[in-house]
Amino acid sequence: MPRMRTRHIAICVCIVTWVYYFLPGEEAFSYAYVARSSYAADHGSTAVLARYMNDLFHVPPIFATPSSFDWGSVNFTYPPKLTPKLPAPVTKRPRIQHRFKPDARGIAAIQEQRRLEVKRVFEKSWTSYRSKAWMKDALKPISGAYVDQFSGWAATLVDSLDTLWIMGLRDEFYQAVKAVAKIDFGKSTTPTVNTFETCIRYLGGLIAAYDLSGHEVLKTKAIEVGDLLYAGFNTKDGMPVDFINFEGAKQGAGLVVEGQVVSASPGTITMEFSRLSQITGDDKYYAAVSHLMDVFYHGQNDTTLPGMWPMHVSMSEMDVVSGNQFTIGGNADSLYEYLPKAHTLLGSADPSSMKYETMSRTFMDTATENLFFRPMIPGDEDILVSGNVDVWPDGPRLDPESEHLTCFIGGLFALGGRLFNNDEYLETGARLARGCAYAYKAFPTGIMPERYNMVLCPGPDHRKHCAWDEEVYATEAAARTQYTSNLPKGFTTAKDPRYILRPEAIESVFILWRITGDPVWRETAWEMFQAVANATDTEFANAAIVDVTVVDSKKEDYMESFWMAETLKYFYLCFAVTDLISLDDFVLNTEAHPFRLSKG
Ligand SMILES: *[C@@H]1O[C@H](CO)[C@@H](O)[C@H](O)[C@H]1NC(C)=O
Ligand SMILES: *[C@@H]1O[C@H](CO)[C@@H](O)[C@H](O)[C@H]1NC(C)=O
Ligand SMILES: *[C@@H]1O[C@H](CO)[C@@H](O)[C@H](O)[C@H]1NC(C)=O
Repeated sequence: MPRMRTRHIAICVCIVTWVYYFLPGEEAFSYAYVARSSYAADHGSTAVLARYMNDLFHVPPIFATPSSFDWGSVNFTYPPKLTPKLPAPVTKRPRIQHRFKPDARGIAAIQEQRRLEVKRVFEKSWTSYRSKAWMKDALKPISGAYVDQFSGWAATLVDSLDTLWIMGLRDEFYQAVKAVAKIDFGKSTTPTVNTFETCIRYLGGLIAAYDLSGHEVLKTKAIEVGDLLYAGFNTKDGMPVDFINFEGAKQGAGLVVEGQVVSASPGTITMEFSRLSQITGDDKYYAAVSHLMDVFYHGQNDTTLPGMWPMHVSMSEMDVVSGNQFTIGGNADSLYEYLPKAHTLLGSADPSSMKYETMSRTFMDTATENLFFRPMIPGDEDILVSGNVDVWPDGPRLDPESEHLTCFIGGLFALGGRLFNNDEYLETGARLARGCAYAYKAFPTGIMPERYNMVLCPGPDHRKHCAWDEEVYATEAAARTQYTSNLPKGFTTAKDPRYILRPEAIESVFILWRITGDPVWRETAWEMFQAVANATDTEFANAAIVDVTVVDSKKEDYMESFWMAETLKYFYLCFAVTDLISLDDFVLNTEAHPFRLSKG
């Protein structure tokens, strides 16, 4: 071909390309683009996905509508301290993820099918939310109605943003960002705002979506919610309120801290506030939460179970030591979860952030000694379960009752094992995660109940294996028959037999997969996914079920926002490429929102 003609063709191609990109509206060409790029999006690592999702030609211009009240303008009667300053970025972290090699072709094909199946289930829920409950807090998955229970700021939408991004659902993501831009955090459907839920779902969701996409609207809205929560620290001692009196907080006169709260509530702000300070460069959020966590740090060894904090604490008295009930489950869970994770985010080089490492190691040792037990089961699986401890005048007593909410602890111990270079933590984490997987498998639906009891292995070390004793089991089970019959051997109750779409078990399985690289975790994940997808499926989405001990259980017309934010995200990540949301680049908050680890 002569040279001239080649050049003409090249010029023509340029013009056509120019016309193609610039003339049509954004929607018109996005489909062609998606078709070309879907491979990259579906298979991509975080970096490839970021390029695809943020391709300049296809990010619609979106600008935030400011909320009707500027939470940054509140004049505090009790201004919180502005130090300590945010520590310098961490320069070196221990490697967390296993060094993965690419899957063999056959295995890759199977994982690919599984990944697409999880995505299909997500898209069904998302599509129904969009058509039936758009901008509402939650879709009711059976009736197709909706409910606002978290102040009416579109909880499910904000909670799902990063999952949309991770699954490569570009058009859906930017459509959702457009909606986020208009959320009014100056108005609430309720007179009080729940600090904990607002922090983990809204603030956490916005920060993660910003960390992934870099879209400024998400940062602007994160600051609005952050400043709203910061107004909850306008109290005599700088401790946060559990519920923010919405109109009262605007006046700035100061709020009154509740007498008693569950310990997870003040204990679950560290990650969001620290990351918000990192993103904005404004130290005030970090400083506020650092003072709060100092109270926990100084009290840690003075409780009746030194190393752990009681389930209820008093922030008005700054008393985190009085009380005799200890658990890693509901009411306390994410207080513990945020210690190793705050350490991941902040490092230990700074005097103000060193406490997270100290508190992590100390609670992990106490929990191992006192809360974890090997239940008596018919097989010889090497599992651990996390129980509850009541401290009596004669010492601590371990109650072999557990619940789905404790299931995050296996993954957390595995993470701690890597962070603190401690193989015992990692091994304990694997045994705990296997305990939850065992409980899933044991029930006829393939799903574990919300709350249950097992039999403690006797002897001074409850973590040691013991032989199955039918008589002991029968006696213990008979003493508790008021709680459902129909129990698999080894379980003496299913005290609360529901499954409400919770993520904690798959969360630990995901983390164990990424840390150990042992393919058995993926198989476990797939079994769990099939069971969950099957038992909870409704016409529109997925619903909580009433009883995991019977196949075809009745369902409840309720789907928590964590179904799309957490449960399906963790399932998806089990089958996706392993550098998508690598644990060496991100740390996930308690609502599965990935925060980027800044590197110095
Ligand atoms: C705080 O004080 C400033 C200066 O007096 C005033 O302009 C502003 O409106 C006040 N903010 C609120 C929320 O009342
Ligand atoms: C609590 O005890 C642990 C272990 O004995 C220790 O490492 C830690 O420094 C103590 N914490 C405080 C605040 O003294
Ligand atoms: C649920 O399980 C049944 C029986 O194993 C199976 O036939 C069906 O296809 C499953 N349904 C879904 C939605 O996975």
